[in-house]
Amino acid sequence: MGLLDGKKALVTGARKGIGRGIALTLANEGADVGINDIVDDETSHRAAELVSSRGVSGTFHSGDVSTIEGFNSVIDSFMADHGQIDILVNNAIFPDQQRSFFEVDEAYWDRMMDLSLKGYFFGAQRAAKEMIAAGKGGSIVCLSSVHSYVAMPGWTPYGVAKMGLRRMVKGLAADLAGHNINANCIAPGAISNRLPDAYDDDVVDGAPHDPESLRFFVPAQKGGLPSDIANAVLYLTSDLGQYVNGETILVDGGMIAARQIHD
Ligand SMILES: NC(=O)c1ccc[n+]([C@@H]2O[C@H](COP(=O)([O-])OP(=O)(O)OC[C@H]3O[C@@H](n4cnc5c(N)ncnc54)[C@H](O)[C@@H]3O)[C@@H](O)[C@H]2O)c1
Repeated sequence: MGLLDGKKALVTGARKGIGRGIALTLANEGADVGINDIVDDETSHRAAELVSSRGVSGTFHSGDVSTIEGFNSVIDSFMADHGQIDILVNNAIFPDQQRSFFEVDEAYWDRMMDLSLKGYFFGAQRAAKEMIAAGKGGSIVCLSSVHSYVAMPGWTPYGVAKMGLRRMVKGLAADLAGHNINANCIAPGAISNRLPDAYDDDVVDGAPHDPESLRFFVPAQKGGLPSDIANAVLYLTSDLGQYVNGETILVDGGMIAARQIHD
């Protein structure tokens, strides 16, 4: 018996990194999982295959979730394969998340907001529609970040988007009242997003960060792994966390708690 037996989950940006870790963890607990990514390659299909190897259904749904059309076609494809959606994990992000203040132009700003706010919002809206039509409730989880709590040079558009998500899930909690749908954020700290070695790729986590690089600003004195984030997603999407709604859980080894103030 798994915590998510019979549930159907869609994870965006799950080809690698945290999304892949979430997908495999939900599959370990009995959920059928759809892997979405904008990159359609062997690694993306392998992620879906690894889900299936756990005795549940794993599918791949290629598409760009930064547009409403793109997200809808991903959910259409997921619904065609799975018939219902119980869990949506909004996780996708592009690689160049940091850009110095005067280098930020309109195209970069729009790209950040289109993926991390617009896409996450309209994906949640469409998923909630499907959940309400099925009448069985559900869970929506959005990946925020420690950058929504503190300002660091070069991270303003990313931090604004990630802060917006924390407000978004509060709105979703209010807007979806009475439908048995909870909506929350996880805010990760420094999490290794490396793929595991090819010869041993059935595992959730790849190699960790070098702990030396984090020793002085993370109380845990090490970096986090996709499984650390995935276990929090599991809590929020299973019966364990059903009464948590509109909240953000920091999973950062104490990084934000221990921020030092210099005078
Ligand atoms: N890794 C960290 O330390 C960390 C820290 C804080 C927050 N986060 C958040 O966690 C989430 C996952 O981060 P990660 O480091 O695992 O990322 P990652 O770069 O390892 O993976 C992101 C995936 O999203 C895909 N993607 C990009 N644009 C897309 C689009 N338009 N449509 C569909 N897929 C798209 C990419 O191809 C990639 O496979 C992100 O929301 C990120 O902001 C990560």
